[in-house]
Amino acid sequence: MIIDHLDEPLPGSSLLPTPSGVAYTDPEIFSREQSEIFEKLWNCVMRADSLSSAGEWKTVTIGREEIIVVRSRKKGIRAYFNVCAHRGMRVCTSGEGKNKTLQCGYHAWTYALEGDLAAAPNLTSMPDVDRQDYGLKPVHVREWLGYVWVCLAEEPPNFDEAVLGEVRTRFGEVESIDNYGIENLKLGESKTYDVAANWKLIIENFMECYHCATIHPELTEVIPEFADGLASQRMNGEVHGSEFGEEIKGFTVDGSASGFEELPRIAPDQDRKYYAITVKPQVFINTVPDHVIIHRMFPVSESRTTVVCDWLFLPEVIERDLPIEKSVELFHRVNQQDFEACEQTQPSMSSKAYSGGGALVPSEHHISEFHAWWSSQVAVSEHQTKVTV
Ligand code: FES
Ligand SMILES: [Fe+2]
Repeated sequence: MIIDHLDEPLPGSSLLPTPSGVAYTDPEIFSREQSEIFEKLWNCVMRADSLSSAGEWKTVTIGREEIIVVRSRKKGIRAYFNVCAHRGMRVCTSGEGKNKTLQCGYHAWTYALEGDLAAAPNLTSMPDVDRQDYGLKPVHVREWLGYVWVCLAEEPPNFDEAVLGEVRTRFGEVESIDNYGIENLKLGESKTYDVAANWKLIIENFMECYHCATIHPELTEVIPEFADGLASQRMNGEVHGSEFGEEIKGFTVDGSASGFEELPRIAPDQDRKYYAITVKPQVFINTVPDHVIIHRMFPVSESRTTVVCDWLFLPEVIERDLPIEKSVELFHRVNQQDFEACEQTQPSMSSKAYSGGGALVPSEHHISEFHAWWSSQVAVSEHQTKVTV
């Protein structure tokens, strides 16, 4: 099977093929994914309000690069490669901190929060050293939905097309997501999952609900149509929200009322409904009437992925310490159920029995669009043989 033909049905059936198992296990393919996908596209890395005052910084790994994200004094949030311009030591050697400047621990080159080289031992005796040329190498930054998004490419893809375009495809227009006012919501809970599975298995799982009746008893109780295997992400190309069951009072683990207000600006067709969007390559946005759940994925290796899941609520829910546990527990269980399924799938990706790949049933056919996108990103000619079995 050749990955170029992922969108053609398997002979004599309603099934579409998946990539071969090697696509999920080969370090070389993973390395291509890092260079061609994660190091070239926009990645959602952290909450903007997690850097609340000037000088606060955090590091994050994107592809094979470590990035410093810092709130500067004059230019908002900035991001840099964590590489000293002198002889390359990591400038920030822990995960987070707060400093007036960023100083390398090797020979004490010191960078302003805006990235320029501010000081170095004997720098005055080297007047030819340009402070910008020998500053920290910047990375493109955008803020959207209250999150910091970075792109490591010299020429980043147009954010409106690449990122907002995914929302347009899902919702028909970007304004529908504006109704949730996500940028003004506050973090109620964040959980980090270390998942022993390839990142593509996690995306594929998120895009379909064929598995929902089998592994998500609580979710299918709240959203009965999921028991029929229909994902909310794509219904014949139409914008479709998945409706709560008649007896259901809220998007909680037992379907009881959440105990707090709905988001004030949602439209009537967003009430009592769940919507999900995949923003390739590493973000899932889930909306319900009274909160929003956002997943960020950070692939670690071909068989390991870190997933950070945030639950966002109206500020008064957090300030008044209203109970969010029942709401958080529903998607936490969904996450655990999904990630366990992905972890039980990963070992089979290197089995002889899966060397020809698997199959997508009709309710999963939209996943082949993801496969076609993936293939177009990574499958250049010298690699074709590697993914042809
Ligand atoms: S490597 Fe950073 S100051 Fe020398
Ligand atoms: Fe699931």
